[in-house]
This record gives sequence, structure tokens and C-alpha cells, in this order.
Amino acid sequence: MEVDADAEKKEKAKVKEILSNAPKSANLINMLLKIQEAIGYLPRHAIQSMAEFAGLTESNVYGVATFYNRFRFVPPGRHHIQVCLGTACHVKGGEIVLQSFERNLGIDEGGVTPDREASLERVACVGCCTLAPVVVMDGKVEGKVSPTKVDGITLKIKMEKEKMAKEEGAGEGGGRPLSGEQQA
Ligand code: FES
Repeated sequence: MEVDADAEKKEKAKVKEILSNAPKSANLINMLLKIQEAIGYLPRHAIQSMAEFAGLTESNVYGVATFYNRFRFVPPGRHHIQVCLGTACHVKGGEIVLQSFERNLGIDEGGVTPDREASLERVACVGCCTLAPVVVMDGKVEGKVSPTKVDGITLKIKMEKEKMAKEEGAGEGGGRPLSGEQQA
């Protein structure tokens, strides 16, 4: 899944900024995490820049990044949904919440909808166990999430898309149900 040239230019500028402010001795994993936090994933150009910065080969950096399942290599959706499956959330029905998102969005965990409106990921404890089961959407914590609440969240995403399509004068197709594909 490609990003457009403008988006790539912005990503490169952010990566450059992060690397130019980092000490040469910076830890590789921490740097990759910082980059991912800033641009949402690790595109090839970021891996190349990181390799150059650290004096490593691209495959060295890929080798490290792919070892950890917290790194993403495709761009996230416009809305990134993280379902917590830490112990407290798991006990309180986190798995059912995840399945509800998978069903509503038509994607599996780790996937992005073809329209790139939403991406779905399972994460470990996010530190709000008293609110279990927890979902983090675009960095905002939603607590006590039920399948009904999931329906509300996915409906909101769909309505936002329809609204944007109307505003852009491209109403056709905006009302299609979200359906998905799995990340490569
Ligand atoms: S286990 Fe989900 S927030 Fe702690």
C-alpha cells in the first residue's frame, strides 16, 4: 500500500528531524519506535535513513525491526484502532471487542480497510486496566468497550467518510460498507 508523494515528503522530513536530533549512540529500537510514533509505520525510506544513520545495512535494520511485532511496515488507516488484550482487558472481554471490530470493518487484526479509513491492531496493556476492556483510537482511550460501543465507533467512521465524500462532491460510493483486506 503506497502513500502519495506529498505524504512521503512529509514523512521524510519528520524522519530527518528525528535523526538529526538524535545522538549517534542512540538505541536502534528506540529510534525506530520514535519514527513509528511520528509517522505511524516504518516505510522503506525510514529504514534506509535509519541504516545510514546507524552505519548498518538496510537488511540489518529490517532484521531487527521484523523481530519485534510492534513495528508496522504499511501505513495505518486514517483511524487507527488498538484493542487492548492485556490480562485485565482479556478477562473483561477484549477478545470479543476485537472480533466485533474485525466483523464490522471486514478486516483481521493487523489489517487496514481498502479505503484506508481504519486499521486494527491488538496491543498489550495500555495502563488503564480499571477501564477494561479498553480500546485506543487515534491515541484516545475508550474504556468499558462493549460490542454495542464498537458498533457505534465503526458507524461513526462510516458516517465521517460519507460526510467527507459529500463535501468533496464525490458522494458516490461514500455509503458503501467498510470491507477489508489483510496487510501484506
Ligand atoms: S490490560 Fe488493558 S489496559 Fe491494562
